[in-house]
Amino acid sequence: MSDVAVIGAGYVGLTTSVCLAHLGHRVLCADIDEERVARLSKGEVPILEDGLPELLSEGLSSRRLTFVVGARQAAARANFVFLCVPTPQADDGSADLSSVEAVAREIAPVLRRGTVVINKSTMPVGSTRLVQRILGESGASIEEVRVASNPEFLREGTSVQDFLNPNRVVIGCDDPSVAVRVSELYRSLDAPILVTDPASAEMIKYASNAFLATKISFVNAIANLCEAVDADVREVALGMGYDQRIGFEFLHPGPGYGGSCFPKDTAALRYTARRAGYAFSLLDGVVEVNRRQHERMVEKLTALVGGELRGRTLALWGLTFKANTDDLRDSPALVIARRLLDAGAHVRAYDPAAGERAGAIVPGLEIVSDPYEVCIGAAALSVLTEWDEFRWLDFDRVRDALEAPVVLDTRNLLDPGALRRLGFTYEGVGRS
Ligand code: UDX
Repeated sequence: MSDVAVIGAGYVGLTTSVCLAHLGHRVLCADIDEERVARLSKGEVPILEDGLPELLSEGLSSRRLTFVVGARQAAARANFVFLCVPTPQADDGSADLSSVEAVAREIAPVLRRGTVVINKSTMPVGSTRLVQRILGESGASIEEVRVASNPEFLREGTSVQDFLNPNRVVIGCDDPSVAVRVSELYRSLDAPILVTDPASAEMIKYASNAFLATKISFVNAIANLCEAVDADVREVALGMGYDQRIGFEFLHPGPGYGGSCFPKDTAALRYTARRAGYAFSLLDGVVEVNRRQHERMVEKLTALVGGELRGRTLALWGLTFKANTDDLRDSPALVIARRLLDAGAHVRAYDPAAGERAGAIVPGLEIVSDPYEVCIGAAALSVLTEWDEFRWLDFDRVRDALEAPVVLDTRNLLDPGALRRLGFTYEGVGRS
């Protein structure tokens, strides 16, 4: 059992904290937001994440998990300090490391001998050495305090599962004995552990996300081509997926990827490539296909309602960037809603988890709390997030509420045959 501090109680920090406590470690999780710390200390989870409430209450009642305000207090007692603070996208596309740097400066003077500081948030190549340098400059002894990169590969919505059943654990450190100490934190997990130099560990994270984004843009491009040649992208993806070198995962076409990772991490990797003098045109293309895919959904909807959006009422189902999360960051649904509003449409939306917050972010977007109400008098309905509940609604009721029975299903979630039998005009992505 180790004493662990986790700095940052966001998606990554919170998941890391509850899971490490579940694995038997004593965890102090710090955040600067006093209200968040107070709520977490009472067992209230501020985000929608499967399994998190249960592990939070387990951690609190076993007393292995405690929340505090401020990084110093947490770091002073730890053998391992996980940095889980945000690394948002700066204007030039690079990852903004100012929170990481500030925390490193803050904790440096209080770190104990032998403590390992672990970069968990996604940070660009060079960040392990940067944190080591800042700690040294700010009062920590370079010989006594070491830094390792240990990137997370958590998907929102399934982050607890992903943490406890990882495909791999990556640890990047110049000193193998430090890497071994970090690996012991994960001893009870059944996963391959890969120890590398810091730069390679940092690159593994970016390369993995960029590759997954590439798969999505690739299948979106194939879907668009399928529409032109009357093929069905679902059959194509299935036929490709049986090839084990390709696999079935991440071949679902849609409105383009979004979320807190892929857009930001692809931008940061493009920035890294530019700085390194490498023309990463493949990645440029991936990002451009994704941007175009959002626009393509707006164009499809425009065509479905007869070419003019001004003055039309449009109904949207789903606003989060994917299902089973309440995260709206870089959600394609919000990009599409804004475009529709800019074109003069009246846009009304329903989302099972994040409607109210979306209404506060997108001026002019009307939010309702019922999937049928959203359809009343609308010229078309568009499914923007693949929430399972949308499959099981009463489509007779939906048809009767709409002004015209027109559906744009950007997630290929619904059954086109069944909808057409009910009198709908149905359009998906990459299939007729
Ligand atoms: C991703 C990575 O999967 C995870 O390993 C990393 O740590 C963080 O980024 P996340 O952003 O939670 O996780 O979501 P993910 O399930 O990967 O989906 C990302 C985006 O791609 C979503 O907008 C999703 O709708 C889209 N997507 C995913 C597709 O359009 N098609 C697919 O086949 C898969």
